[in-house]
Amino acid sequence: MLRLGVLVGAKGRGSNLMAILNAIAAGTIPGQVAVVIGSLKGAPALEAAALAGVETVVVGTVNRTDDEYGEVLLRAITKRDVDLIVLAGYMRRLPDMVTTNYAGRIINIHPSLLPAFGGHGMYGRKVHEAVRASGIAETGCTVHVVDNEYDHGAVVAQRRVDVSPDDSVDDIAARVLGAEHSLLVDVISDICSGLRPLPLA
Ligand code: GRF
Repeated sequence: MLRLGVLVGAKGRGSNLMAILNAIAAGTIPGQVAVVIGSLKGAPALEAAALAGVETVVVGTVNRTDDEYGEVLLRAITKRDVDLIVLAGYMRRLPDMVTTNYAGRIINIHPSLLPAFGGHGMYGRKVHEAVRASGIAETGCTVHVVDNEYDHGAVVAQRRVDVSPDDSVDDIAARVLGAEHSLLVDVISDICSGLRPLPLA
């Protein structure tokens, strides 16, 4: 059974993490979450993981160089024999040490149809504000392989949602988030069942 390491944001809400844990509990994902790693104690995502009985680890970024942070993070991941790293709300660029050691074994979920509305500074609500301002008729979400550039690695899968002119930013955000949960679960399920072999191309 593949072992997942989920990295969440400093103040991560954790809805994608919960979608993964629920899918594991339901038997849709034949894998297990070995560890959830965040950078700030008390993040809702970490609390939710702990409540679900999953091991949580805090790897702080303050007063650490990128290399030092990378070293501690990599150690926390390798120590738990993680096969696949899932970024779920993780906002930072991963240290090179991690992307190199886990090449093709790290995926991220992004709330737009990359390469549209991606890159440094394009995250969270900002993405949906930009989508709304652009007037386009569809958006969606992307699971991509993570390398050492923001939102850059190969696209694994995307899911589209419609945008209507009457939609508020909140409407768009909610619709995309629902699509994220199902896309991320589908991709992880495919990886864990061997339909998409690791390392991903
Ligand atoms: C999601 O919109 C994801 O696409 C982005 O960060 C958000 C995380 O949400 N990378 P949650 O913490 O999983 O609820």
